Amino acid sequence: MDFQPIIKQIYEQVRAGESRGRVATYIPELGNIPADKFGVYLETCDGKVSGTGDCQEKFSIQSIAKVFSLTLAYDQLGEKVWERVGVEPAGTPFNSLVQLEADKGIPRNPFVNAGALVICDILLDVLADPKADLLAYVRRLADNPTIEYDLSVAASEAATGYRNRALVNLIRAFGNIKHPTEQVLDLYFHKCSLAMSCQELAKAGMYLAKNGFSAAGTQILSESSAKRINAIMQTCGFYDEAGEFAYRVGLPGKSGVGGGILAVHPDRYSLTVWSPPLNEKGNSYRGMKFLERFTTETGTSIF
Ligand code: DON
Repeated sequence: MDFQPIIKQIYEQVRAGESRGRVATYIPELGNIPADKFGVYLETCDGKVSGTGDCQEKFSIQSIAKVFSLTLAYDQLGEKVWERVGVEPAGTPFNSLVQLEADKGIPRNPFVNAGALVICDILLDVLADPKADLLAYVRRLADNPTIEYDLSVAASEAATGYRNRALVNLIRAFGNIKHPTEQVLDLYFHKCSLAMSCQELAKAGMYLAKNGFSAAGTQILSESSAKRINAIMQTCGFYDEAGEFAYRVGLPGKSGVGGGILAVHPDRYSLTVWSPPLNEKGNSYRGMKFLERFTTETGTSIF
């Protein structure tokens, strides 16, 4: 199937339609990104590519990076990871503190901020040079040595990240964070600041579409582990909109407050969308619209 014409057609229609979203400003640096940026890129498992709009422009991937940090932690620790973070949908906003009290500091899943912060604490144990090693890992996934952290985004979030600081301290009070708060946050803010284009991100996500093998053919995870990451993306990737995303789009996916979404169709493709204005749940308004129409019109939901 040649996806380029349908991508172009849906892209134009979604771009011409209304945009009710708002660009995130709670990380001040993200508020400087023009709201009309919009890109889409798809790579099939056999290497055919299609893209349109601002698909070569780098953006802040934010929470999409939680997929890559989870993959690394899961690869290193295996099932032991789940002693410190769950695999249940939270049904709460990404930055919520409320469930942690009842759940005694064990975050519901690795994609809410609480869970991703615990994953960072785990990575501080297993990596010799955590920020450099995580960056090297993402470069390996993407087969691209030019990927970098955006240090101004990381600094901007470090200056305003009050809720994340509160999350780390609350989890620490329950004994599920072991490293100093600022060290955990530093790795977390850098991870979230990763700057990648739709094209680069689609390639980085290929291991989830190709049973654990990267686009370059390297085995990143076992087939079973790749399926499990997809299952968590499907059930938890969109916070309190995960059900809606499964219902409307029907693909494992992960969003970020930079306006990006990575979605994969196991055995078929890896697909990324970027449009900064977010809906009220913190997911890209146009990104959701595009993906809903794309899977509907191509008949490629996994269901
Ligand atoms: O921790 C934060 O608030 C951001 N660095 C990431 C949040 C995010 O991307 C949520 N996703 N939609």
